[in-house]
Amino acid sequence: MAPFEKHLFICCNQRPAGHPRGCCDPSASEALQKAFKKALAERGLARRIRANRSGCLDQCEHGPTVVVYPDAVWYGGVTEGDIPEIVDRHLVGGEPVGRLRLADACVNTATCTHKPRS
Ligand code: FES
Repeated sequence: MAPFEKHLFICCNQRPAGHPRGCCDPSASEALQKAFKKALAERGLARRIRANRSGCLDQCEHGPTVVVYPDAVWYGGVTEGDIPEIVDRHLVGGEPVGRLRLADACVNTATCTHKPRS
């Protein structure tokens, strides 16, 4: 079997209600990951693109968070309604969905203004 061309990591982390950083899957349903998996299967892409459950990706304030590798494209505020656009435009068409992309200033930086200050 050929290696996967892309991996999606879909944060399914849960935290208690009221946590200052929130979390990407407060209902613990993993619904977003399951819906990505279903969308890929419906398009015959399941052997080329893998939709993995992930723990916290440290972008909690922007969640639900999804990252696509090897593209290193980070998405925030992703809903099930966004999945067809991400799959069809980005994963198939090669054009990331700009309206959902996280700013470079927010990804893996200590200076992201959305994170709580300690
Ligand atoms: S809880 Fe999803 S990125 Fe931290």
